[in-house]
Amino acid sequence: MRLVALSGSLRRDSHNSALARIAAGLAPGDVEVEVFEGLGEVEPYDQDLDTPFAPPGAAAFRDALERADAVIIATPEYNSSIPGQLKNALDWASRPLGDSALTGLPVAVIGASTSRFGAVWAQADLRKILGASGARVVDGELAIAQADDAIAEGSRLRDPKASDALRRIVEAVVAEGAAHLQALAA
Ligand code: FNR
Repeated sequence: MRLVALSGSLRRDSHNSALARIAAGLAPGDVEVEVFEGLGEVEPYDQDLDTPFAPPGAAAFRDALERADAVIIATPEYNSSIPGQLKNALDWASRPLGDSALTGLPVAVIGASTSRFGAVWAQADLRKILGASGARVVDGELAIAQADDAIAEGSRLRDPKASDALRRIVEAVVAEGAAHLQALAA
């Protein structure tokens, strides 16, 4: 059972990258965890390149999803939606038509922003995009507002309630991942 955690931010000191790492650290001990760090290398989506031989950055993203039994994405909010690079990568993953790497894959969505709202609009958009691409979007929301204060030392959530909520989301996506794995094996 492998959980892939992904941040939608390319920024070195990103709050969402910290949140993705915190989420990964909450996975049960028997879960293999991978933090995908290649988002910045995913090439701009171009349908002319969208063949079985996708360019290497896009192929690496698709491979990470194909290795995953469950995924958790921490998204920033840019102008009330998700960052372009995250959307770009998901566009690659959703193709070729009828063979989306996201089909049936359990994905949990969380997010952090420096504003009072915790990237809730971006999270809603991300859920919509994932659903349209065939993913099984897991219930549960975590909006970390005022992230520069809420994430201490880039490594833990200051609010124990937020920490508990994140643990429950990780457990939920892992449970769905295990069920997905069993269904594939049956
Ligand atoms: C932002 N930010 C932001 N925040 C928010 O709550 N709603 C928004 O619509 C936006 N829009 C926005 C656009 C752009 C281009 C940038 C660069 C930033 C602020 C954003 O939440 C903040 O920069 C976070 O720190 C970004 O997440 P990471 O990089 O820390 O993970």
